Amino acid sequence: MRDDAVINPRSTKAWKALEKDAKRMKATTIQELFAADPARAERMTFEGAGISMDLSKNLIDDEVITHLLELAEQTKVLDRRDAMFRGDAINNSEERRVLHVALRMPRSTPLVLDGHDVVADVHEVLDHMGSFCEDVREGRWLGATGKRITDVVNVGIGGSYLGPEMAALALRRAVSAPIDAHFVANVDAADLEAVVSKLDPETTVVIVASKTFTTLETMTNAGLARDWIAGALGEAAVANHFVAVSTNHEAVKEFGISENAMFGFWDWVGGRYSMDSAIGLSTMMLIGKDGFAEMLAGFHDVDQHFCDTDPKKNLPLLLGLMRVWYGNFLGAETVGVMPYSNDLKRLPAYLQQLQMESNGKRVSRDGVAVEYSTGPIVWGEPGTDGQHSFYQLLHQGTKLIPLDLIGFLTPLSGYRESHDLLIANLLAQSQALAFGRLADEVAASGVEEWQVPFRTFPGNRPSTLFFLDELTPRSLGSLIALYEHDVFTQGAVWGIDSFDQWGVELGKAMATSIAGTLTDETVALTYDSSTNSAIERYRNSRRRWA
Ligand code: F6P
Repeated sequence: MRDDAVINPRSTKAWKALEKDAKRMKATTIQELFAADPARAERMTFEGAGISMDLSKNLIDDEVITHLLELAEQTKVLDRRDAMFRGDAINNSEERRVLHVALRMPRSTPLVLDGHDVVADVHEVLDHMGSFCEDVREGRWLGATGKRITDVVNVGIGGSYLGPEMAALALRRAVSAPIDAHFVANVDAADLEAVVSKLDPETTVVIVASKTFTTLETMTNAGLARDWIAGALGEAAVANHFVAVSTNHEAVKEFGISENAMFGFWDWVGGRYSMDSAIGLSTMMLIGKDGFAEMLAGFHDVDQHFCDTDPKKNLPLLLGLMRVWYGNFLGAETVGVMPYSNDLKRLPAYLQQLQMESNGKRVSRDGVAVEYSTGPIVWGEPGTDGQHSFYQLLHQGTKLIPLDLIGFLTPLSGYRESHDLLIANLLAQSQALAFGRLADEVAASGVEEWQVPFRTFPGNRPSTLFFLDELTPRSLGSLIALYEHDVFTQGAVWGIDSFDQWGVELGKAMATSIAGTLTDETVALTYDSSTNSAIERYRNSRRRWA
């Protein structure tokens, strides 16, 4: 359904004020802003749900923050937030509710929609997941030959993969059973081969994770995994070695997985918002049901913060508004996310889907093409690795790239001194980016005059510094919920539907059509000349090896 009540953010007073602010900010520097205000860091650091967010090294002043908050008010961001939590169908292009926040609501807080408590449904599935995971973890659920399960393979892609894979690494220190998790996503069989070649089918459970249970990659890999299990142990072994996570009961049954080995969720959970649904089955397998409950509590902490905290101190709201500020008023095209935690190595990949599938939209909710920039390109690598590759461009290149720098105060590793060095690097980068090393200072240090321009760091490069205490299931949940609501805020300001993903459909349909032409040479080629000649080239090669 088209949402004709959408507000064009450019028509608001706040937008106009921000355009003026941008002129002022372009004429100043972060160095000058700090020099003028000794209390800047204190005033611009916000805390909530165990997260501290220091915005002071951004190109903002109090007026910018005021006008951004006015923009949120004038585009009714908080009304939309309330509509989401209430269960309104705010995913208007798919006519669906958006209720990932219900996945982490405590058992004691019902959310009744059309006379039905969805929180009770959520906890019923959590209980089912809990008993299955405990059976596997404690050796009650055995493989077909009576052996204990030591490995789970999650076969899924996109939202049915990125969150579980990211969490498996992030929470490796919280793993509380002798079980390893592995992930197969790519339709390139190299992915599956690399995983199964290391595993014993007798001790492996495959989780087929797919919201729709129709995704080409997942269904192809699930079929191959099934051949691998059935080939080694016989067809009957499928019952002990396969479970499914999906919303599509029929397709799961057709695949041969029984109802009691299926963990459901609902159409109101978007794929990229599903790591805390049954899609997190592999996560629960690793950290147990109590660990999973802790992670959900972390998500819920931020949900409550987002709902209850004054906008002026509301972390996800302010964070989302910062993206709008850089994207729409200062011309930044990308956001770099640099977790100073090796265990968060896959966070940037996870956030790419969360942000770019949500806010990579060209029409607003009324179906009209937007006349402003929407979702940023998100990318990143863990610190300190990135420092030795692309930070050169961040320090001395010509592009404006705001960064999220994320650190943890308490190390989980026994190598304490390494943590000191990690944090020193995090702080040094945030400082160097903002303040640089100006030409005068470089010259005064005795550098030859001709070399000064090369060795000058202009600074004035924005970053936001996040600190959490330690990387645990709870803090991971909070960090992800912070980003979910950051994405929500941006989409609400821009008046777009952050919860559909029509943009992935065309490529899928074309791949299906092209697949038929690769394997059947009698099919006439009717594509563009480039695609036709590439298909011919491939057919020639295929004749040699097929
Ligand atoms: O292709 C995009 C997408 O639909 C994502 O939104 C989703 O997370 C992914 O594919 C996987 O979908 P499914 O869980 O239905 O297999």
